[in-house]
Amino acid sequence: MKHRKLMFGQDGTFKIMQLTDIHYTDDDETDRRSVVQIREWLQKEQPDLVMVTGDAVYGTDNLDNIKKAMAPLTESGIPWSFVFGNHDVEHHSDRETLFGILEKMEGFVGYHDSDSGDGYGNHMLPIYDREGTLRWVVAGMDSGNKNPLPQVGGYQYVSRRQIAWYERCLKRLEQEAAQFSVLEFQHMAVPEIEDLWRFGKCWGVKRDGFGCPFVNSGQFLAALEDGHTRGMFFGHDHTNSFWGNHFGIVLGYGRISGCGGYGAEDYPRGTRLFVLRADNLEQFETYELLDNGNYVRNPWGYTPLSRRDEG
Ligand SMILES: [Fe+2]
Repeated sequence: MKHRKLMFGQDGTFKIMQLTDIHYTDDDETDRRSVVQIREWLQKEQPDLVMVTGDAVYGTDNLDNIKKAMAPLTESGIPWSFVFGNHDVEHHSDRETLFGILEKMEGFVGYHDSDSGDGYGNHMLPIYDREGTLRWVVAGMDSGNKNPLPQVGGYQYVSRRQIAWYERCLKRLEQEAAQFSVLEFQHMAVPEIEDLWRFGKCWGVKRDGFGCPFVNSGQFLAALEDGHTRGMFFGHDHTNSFWGNHFGIVLGYGRISGCGGYGAEDYPRGTRLFVLRADNLEQFETYELLDNGNYVRNPWGYTPLSRRDEG
């Protein structure tokens, strides 16, 4: 495990910025606008860690473009990490090569654990309080691209071998501290996000479909059972940015951060932020900063019809 030790600040908080779906493709005006915006958000928010949740690059120039897309991060001096989206190496190269480039970049704290089963770059970043006690963990998982089962098709999923690795990591961390919580990130959402939207109370915007796998690998169930996971956040569905509590775990979407990639004219790009507290393992705060400068701190609440009747 190669990473610099992440610590809560003097005020007991740790701020994470999620960037997702930057889609740096042609190195054109649109792509350069993304970089300018990301730089502004970093300066404005000064997070303690940045998590890039995939589809940072797209197309055949991905290995050159990843350096350009990540430039605001490498310049910032802020530790940052990355999980693969379905598009990052879809048209050129492979995960290992792109990850090798990331690993040489300034501030990168992700790593690849060869024991993690499937995918590439599954990792866990422990965060310690000022006394050196483990309080929170940021986890990143590779949710793949296309389902390897030809009879199913559609999108891939975090595999049972990855889930087993995740559980092993938490067991190992339990030897450091009995109580700690996990905020997990990956590109494609677990299928349960659709149940959350249909039956639960959600905050924020849903303007996209659900690009989830057609089969359920049990990742959310495992997260419920592990007793540590408090949040799971995704990208991929560009014009979804809602979140909600699903049986005690907050499931939600980041905000599309890049100007490239599909979206909607009236759907601002932006970034989602998380504030963890060393003295609160139950909850975390989350809000968005948009490209128009506005903050979304109290998003619109949505209760589905099935719940409205219950009063
Ligand atoms: Fe995607």
